[in-house]
Order: sequence, then C-alpha cells, then structure tokens
Amino acid sequence: MKGRPMKRLALLMLLVIPPLACKATSPNHSTMTQDDQKNAMADVKKAVAVLHGTNGNEDVHGVVWFTQKEGYIEVKAEVKGLAPGKHGFHIHEWGDCSSGDGKSAGGHFNPEGVHHAGPEEKPRHVGDLGNLEANDQGVATLSLEDKILSFSGPHSIIGRGMIVHADADDLTSQPTGNAGGRVACGVIGIAKPD
Ligand code: CU
Ligand code: ZN
Repeated sequence: MKGRPMKRLALLMLLVIPPLACKATSPNHSTMTQDDQKNAMADVKKAVAVLHGTNGNEDVHGVVWFTQKEGYIEVKAEVKGLAPGKHGFHIHEWGDCSSGDGKSAGGHFNPEGVHHAGPEEKPRHVGDLGNLEANDQGVATLSLEDKILSFSGPHSIIGRGMIVHADADDLTSQPTGNAGGRVACGVIGIAKPD
C-alpha cells in the first residue's frame, strides 16, 4: 500500500501538467506555432491559376501551372481564345477578379518597389513574366523557369492575381509595359503536388 500515494501524485501530474505546458507555449490556444506555419507554407510544391475572360473577352480561357523545382519555379501556361500575337502576362498584386475588367487585381505584384521590366531583367517586378504569344488559332503556350517567384515569404505568389493583357508588354514602359486592357484574370491557388 506504500506506493498508492505516489501513484495518485503521478496521475495528478499527468492531468495537470499537459494543460499548463500547452498554455506556456501557445498563449493564443493555437495548435500551430509560427515555425509550424512557416513549414506548412514551405510545403507548397505546385500552384495553379485558372484564367477566365474578362467582360467582352469571354472566349479567352486558360490554365497556368507553377511547380517548385530545385532552385526555381517552372511556369507552364496554355491560354486559348486570344488575338494572334503578343500579350502581356503578369502576376498582379491581388487575387481578385471580381470587377469584371480585371482591374480589381491591382497593379503588378511588386513587393520590392522597383521598376517594371522584362522577365530576364534585374530588378523587375516579381510579377513581370513578359509576354504570351498566341498563334493564328489564338492559342498561346509558355514554359519558363523563374528564380524570383516563390511559394513562401515576401515573394510568395500564392493568392495573387494572374492577368493576360490585350496588347504586348514592351518590357520598358512604366509602370505596366503599356500592355493595354486585361482580357483574362485568375487567382493563383495551392495545387495538389504531383
Ligand atoms: Cu499585367
Ligand atoms: Zn511590371
């Protein structure tokens, strides 16, 4: 019978200590620490934007895939229903296509506050992906590798807007490359990894 009080104490400790420990490490009763949240974001391996035509451009539609590779993000796009020729192709600040003309997506995604440029230039807006080029059938495909885009941190493109323009991005005019109206808009979301 000597051991009983000790057993009781041990049982009491089991009941009492876990809630205390929990309170000590997470004052907001959140089950995720900041590190957990960072790791969850770093786990994004693939993202996708489904593009819909803006008002008056209902024939335009497409999909853009973003895949995390070793040291860069691979961008693959196919957009249909375009006028033949070049079309500015950018990630804009807001993942908001609600306005019907694409303007609710805001300006180019530019977390560094630098000038507009081409995709190969430094510095450039994070969102500056240059141009899509549609063939005579109005189909544009694009494949590029980019080291500036990211799925986490200040350059994260998750939740931002993907815009295709009516005209070519001249890669120099400020602040937008003089690419004209917005013919398609989509939101970049987290996709199921391969
Ligand atoms: Cu744009
Ligand atoms: Zn730009």
